[in-house]
Amino acid sequence: SQLEKGGYPHFMLKEIYEQPKTLLDCIRGRINVEGNNIVLSGVIDNRDKFVRASRIIIVACGTSWHAALIGEYLIEDWCRIPVEVEYASEFRYRNPVIHADDVVIAISQSGETADTLAAVELAKSKGAFIYGICNVIGSSIARATHSGSYIHVGPEIGVASTKAFTGQVTVLSMLALTIAKEKGSIPHKKYEEKVQALKNIPALLTEVLKQSDKIKELSKIFTYAHNFIYLGRGYNYPAALEGALKLKEISYIHAEGYPAAEMKHGPIALIDTEMPVVVIATADRIYEKTISNIQEIKARKGKIIAIVTEGDTVVKDIADVCIEVPKTIEEFEPIVSSIPLQLLAYFIAVNKGRDVDQPRNLAKSVTVE
Ligand code: G6P
Repeated sequence: SQLEKGGYPHFMLKEIYEQPKTLLDCIRGRINVEGNNIVLSGVIDNRDKFVRASRIIIVACGTSWHAALIGEYLIEDWCRIPVEVEYASEFRYRNPVIHADDVVIAISQSGETADTLAAVELAKSKGAFIYGICNVIGSSIARATHSGSYIHVGPEIGVASTKAFTGQVTVLSMLALTIAKEKGSIPHKKYEEKVQALKNIPALLTEVLKQSDKIKELSKIFTYAHNFIYLGRGYNYPAALEGALKLKEISYIHAEGYPAAEMKHGPIALIDTEMPVVVIATADRIYEKTISNIQEIKARKGKIIAIVTEGDTVVKDIADVCIEVPKTIEEFEPIVSSIPLQLLAYFIAVNKGRDVDQPRNLAKSVTVE
């Protein structure tokens, strides 16, 4: 009903706008306000399982699988534990190697996805320790796992996942920092910097939401495109995949997410004057490399929509349109950069008159194979 949407025309828009608050709810009670310390009890209670894990396998589907990819980067970066990310549907049927000293993390907003639940049961039967990252309290996956952390972002109604994605990445960040601290794989000063940066994320999201009107305006230019490419590198590569998925799901425009440097091995052939290319080009370690990818697109006359860090001048000179996001540490860039991509997909779908909250052929939770 209109009342439940809190004055927003769609649940999806409401849920996009809720993110500063939902991420605060997600970190509340886990990061103490005065100090810079994270207490993620599910991880602390199972400290040895994580610290001694020879490997972590993350299983998920859809948007949760994109969050899992960011989790891989975070855990390998900070904890130095090898991580594998698997589509639950592939994992369950491909006779995977699972050891008793593996930790398997299952990520699921609904906690009811049939393939993810089956992957959990399989890993459990092999003796692995199973950790759940769910939103819905008491859901099947939450109950089937040995331990876990809820993302606590509140009910997500829109079929296209938004606040659950940023909540999942936030929990994965807290999980990775907790393990890293327990393992001693991160210097204490660095740990505190990361925690401080995470605490600042809700405020940064409030900032980035102020770009909404601008994104609404520019969405009009791209409403009639038939294809889109989304590119990012490093931590922003999964954010590019997620941006493309959002557009596909609700506008029914074909979109492909790709690692920016991998573009030259295929998708570059698609680029012409008709092709909008969304590039996440924030000022991180790999910024210069991303700029050369942008130049490759420009040389082929693609239309460039760039997500840039506030104050950027270099990309602004090359791109057709720029959306600014506030600076954060590289590891949290995908949280911040995914907001404008959610808004872009939303406004394009609205312009096309799509059923944003209930797109055709899709279900909020896929409880059958
Ligand atoms: C469906 C939903 C997606 C979601 C995926 C996984 O496809 O439409 O938004 O990402 O399932 O769902 P889960 O509840 O397991 O995260």
